[in-house]
Amino acid sequence: MEKRISSLLSLSLFLLLLISALTYCSAKSVSDSDILGLQSIERTTSQAERLIRQLNLIPKDAEPVDEQSLTADVSKIVEKRFTFPNLIDTNGVSVGDLGHHAGYYKLEHSHAARMFYFFFESRGNKSDDPVVIWLTGGPGCSSELALFYENGPFKIADNMSLVMNEYGWDKASNLIYVDQPTGTGFSYTSDKRDLRHDETGVSDDLYDFLQAFFQKHPQFVNNDFFITGESYAGHYIPAFAARVHQGNKAKEGIHINLKGFAIGNGLTDPAIQYKAYTDYALDMGLIDESQQKSINKILPTCELAIKLCGTDGTLACLASYLVCNTIFSRIKLIAGNINHYDIRIQCKGQLCYDFSNMDKFLNQRKVRDALGVGDIEFVSCSPTVYQGMLMDWMRNLEVGIPTLLEDGIQLLVYAGEYDLICNWLGNSRWVEAMEWSGHQEYVASPKVPFVVDGAEAGVLKSYGPLSFLKVHNAGHMVPMDQPKAALEMLNRWTGGKLAEADDQTEGSAEVM
Ligand SMILES: *[C@@H]1O[C@H](CO)[C@@H](O)[C@H](O)[C@H]1NC(C)=O
Ligand SMILES: *[C@@H]1O[C@H](CO)[C@@H](O)[C@H](O)[C@H]1NC(C)=O
Repeated sequence: MEKRISSLLSLSLFLLLLISALTYCSAKSVSDSDILGLQSIERTTSQAERLIRQLNLIPKDAEPVDEQSLTADVSKIVEKRFTFPNLIDTNGVSVGDLGHHAGYYKLEHSHAARMFYFFFESRGNKSDDPVVIWLTGGPGCSSELALFYENGPFKIADNMSLVMNEYGWDKASNLIYVDQPTGTGFSYTSDKRDLRHDETGVSDDLYDFLQAFFQKHPQFVNNDFFITGESYAGHYIPAFAARVHQGNKAKEGIHINLKGFAIGNGLTDPAIQYKAYTDYALDMGLIDESQQKSINKILPTCELAIKLCGTDGTLACLASYLVCNTIFSRIKLIAGNINHYDIRIQCKGQLCYDFSNMDKFLNQRKVRDALGVGDIEFVSCSPTVYQGMLMDWMRNLEVGIPTLLEDGIQLLVYAGEYDLICNWLGNSRWVEAMEWSGHQEYVASPKVPFVVDGAEAGVLKSYGPLSFLKVHNAGHMVPMDQPKAALEMLNRWTGGKLAEADDQTEGSAEVM
């Protein structure tokens, strides 16, 4: 009975918030632009309106088919060692030594889902280097965006050749990219019930994948393990890290040597990050003070809705998504055609950047044959996956982090300074506000320059297992904009040397 009343209350509140959202939204006319890290909100606002009319958005969790097969079966992974046919310029490394793998994992707790992944053995010391997994956001964007445009072993040239990337993260790690949640990139299912709607679904799948991965590659199981990623992965990463930690503690399956997790320009604590939008926009001259004042009138409703959403709300989460995102669309409306991933430049094309070479490259027959993906359609950013995760968007993922810090697991939050959508200001604020045993000390810690090649590449603040790095001259995609600094960051962080103020790169050890 009480439950009915409270759900009635939340429904009426939801409708109220919805009305206010639609009122705000009606002013918008921003051109449709797709995602990349976070899918653009404008388009989905109207999609959400349609969806709400159908009101069938309550996630129905997929029933696992055969619980008894929990003893992970190696055959659930089908992996092949491959070489991209168009690979040139391997810097003397013989193609046979590269250790590049592509595979499908049949998701344990799904009806028919297969998760696609790449695994690139390190170009450095395979046995010593950590294992690093990368997750692109969206939700619903393929990690191949990062592979080919940010930190992968190679870049796509205009003539469809692959050129080795001097600053690929595989220079310092054994690097995994997964396409997830199901429906992203080359990952697919024939059963709609396999679509994921929350971080429990996402992190359970990733955990199952890791178990199968390490069973397939036991020689890497004792290497240090780090979780990394960007944007909406600010949701995935803390949930995945917590899931791995929980599995380790419960001695579930193979012990994963989790040492840390890093979030790049992520969305983790929406209440704090949405509030920071207008402050950042004002600081960067995108809006003026009176515009800020006007947009901030949405804040109390937005904050209330986020509070009701909490960590596991449903309708309130959807309502807060609609209400709060009007803050973002109003800023964009004023700022014009800026690229919301990098306010220094204009938005060009569907993704705000031109990533069309990736689709062109991955759709070549010989590439598909090399990867073993058959005729599976490659979906760079899936609207279906995105919509499936709408209720998850505004949930607070900061709450699981303190436990991980207390247990000595490292967290690095980094952010390129010119990104609007997951800006550094909102990120630094939630990191500052986070309650854990080292909170006071972290807040009191000095900001020190992050020096690469004798120049300040960013500003770093650290205490114990927690670090925050603001990266200069970069937008949302830090490894794309500052490849060398990003590789340095990874290298120092995974080596436990991030907080050492001095420049470890050859030559200069100048600190300002
Ligand atoms: C990798 O590092 C280990 C331990 O430091 C060392 O024993 C091994 O020789 C190194 N391998 C290569 C290929 O350098
Ligand atoms: C393709 O482009 C790459 C990089 O610009 C270049 O090194 C290579 O020679 C080109 N290949 C052909 C066949 O033109």
